[in-house]
Amino acid sequence: MTSLARDLAEITGDAHVRIDPDLMAGYLTDWTRRYHGPAACVVLPGSAAEVAAVVRYCAAQGIPLVPQGGNTGLVGGSVPPPAGARSAAHAAPGRPDEPGGPGSLPDDLPVVLSTRRLAALDPVDTVAGQVTAGAGVTIARLRAHAAQAGFDYGVDLAARDSATVGGTIATNAGGIHVIRYGKTRAQLIGLTAVLPDGSGVGDLSGLAAGTAGYDLPQLIAGSEGTLAVITAARLRLWPAGPPGAVVLAGLGGIAEAAQLHAQIRAHAPGLLAAEYFEGAGLELVRGLAGLPLPLSRAYPAYLLAELPGAAEDAGRLADAGLPADTAVALDPRGRAALWAYRERLTEAISAIGVPHKIDVAVPQGRLAAFRAALDDVARDASGGADCKVVVFGHVGVGNLHVNVIGPDPAGNAVDVAVARLAAANDGSAAAEHGIGRAKVGWLDWSRPAGEIAAMRAIKSALDPAGLFNPGVLFPPVPAAARPMGSGMGGCG
Ligand code: FAD
Ligand code: MLT
Ligand code: ZN
Repeated sequence: MTSLARDLAEITGDAHVRIDPDLMAGYLTDWTRRYHGPAACVVLPGSAAEVAAVVRYCAAQGIPLVPQGGNTGLVGGSVPPPAGARSAAHAAPGRPDEPGGPGSLPDDLPVVLSTRRLAALDPVDTVAGQVTAGAGVTIARLRAHAAQAGFDYGVDLAARDSATVGGTIATNAGGIHVIRYGKTRAQLIGLTAVLPDGSGVGDLSGLAAGTAGYDLPQLIAGSEGTLAVITAARLRLWPAGPPGAVVLAGLGGIAEAAQLHAQIRAHAPGLLAAEYFEGAGLELVRGLAGLPLPLSRAYPAYLLAELPGAAEDAGRLADAGLPADTAVALDPRGRAALWAYRERLTEAISAIGVPHKIDVAVPQGRLAAFRAALDDVARDASGGADCKVVVFGHVGVGNLHVNVIGPDPAGNAVDVAVARLAAANDGSAAAEHGIGRAKVGWLDWSRPAGEIAAMRAIKSALDPAGLFNPGVLFPPVPAAARPMGSGMGGCG
């Protein structure tokens, strides 16, 4: 054991510090396999007090920390920076931060702080309609727990078996029910967290009304591990409705999907999900899972919608103008079978290569223009590489997941080109996955300079030594100070 590992083991016990490369491996590479970096060790504290002690120790030694939940994030924020990233950042001209300032990459290898052992889950408070959950509780466990008490948790996503309460708050995750309940931020009543100096903040009292100064939980939501380690959260629950209907319609393209979503929404208030995918993705899922065609024939595009209150709303669907070739499922097995075509897309895409995943948002009125230009833009940026473009997403909020498989995962040109196409269509280069390491250079495409300066000031105030998740959210060197074309390494 290194002296660092020995000291951390004093806090958590030997069994909860990993230094063996084989045992660390799963914590050092992200879900996409595109982002990975070395760490001094992985530590798994078992309580908020142990988290605080680990943070205090690392702060005193100047050791950076990477908070990690289920490691299902898709933008590289849950794993350490790649080997060599620090020397590259320091060598870059025009570097504005003093060593140790926000955005700099400290000298030492980081410690990965995994929250998996923070798994306490209190009984549901049925009067308040709230629950308190440890940061390491998975979304699947939270949802099952809420359901037993007659409630629904507003966030659901295909990564539910691994994604955690803390990770989904830190990324402000959206997911498949975002049109009904909003993003994770909207579920957050309170949280407890440890700041970079080791002090604890927050409460789990469940006070849903009350304004007394800055709202720290809302600041920490979406901060991607750069401001605090979340240890637990008090979450809003929604009364569970009767099981709904799932419909899957075959369509000509994204404009038809956006239009059909609007029609269904008009006839089915409280629509839970409106998800888009295309024929290319459907074929990948069918290949992976051995599933039949869901409809009488293949279509260029599909809309999957979930409605609350099966009997009543399924009846109303007759008025919603659904195409004749639409599958409708009212029983649990049928619903799960239709959802599989959508939920297994991420896995099916990763099975054919390491994808460039570009998570963008585009206004409803620009979706068709964005999609029409996308294939050519991706191919042009791929420098002749054989590209496969797979598009799906949460069409109800204009959030599209563009996946390009083929170009070298180390390059960035196709990511930049697709993000710029979204920006050119009045969209955003980051929708629900966050900035992470993947999009640090793009922050100023989505946020004005004044807001970024305010964000840096907050980061400096709370984390003056820049030890929490260095290299995430803030670029080591602001884009403006970088030579033209850097960070956009060739593709293919
Ligand atoms: P991690 O991946 O471990 O970490 C994510 C970020 O949060 C990192 O920056 C990390 O440092 C920080 N973090 C983690 N825990 C803490 C903590 N306790 N305190 C402070 N910071 C912390 N995302 C969506 O938004 N919507 C989707 O529909 C969706 N579907 C997905 C489907 C699949 C199959 C997969 C693989 C991913 C999907 N994602 C989706 C992405 C991912 O699941 C989310 O970003 C999720 O919020 C990550 O949670 P996690 O616990 O795995 O966090
Ligand atoms: C999803 O909606 O399933 C995701 O955000 C995952 C992905 O983008 O692959
Ligand atoms: Zn998504």
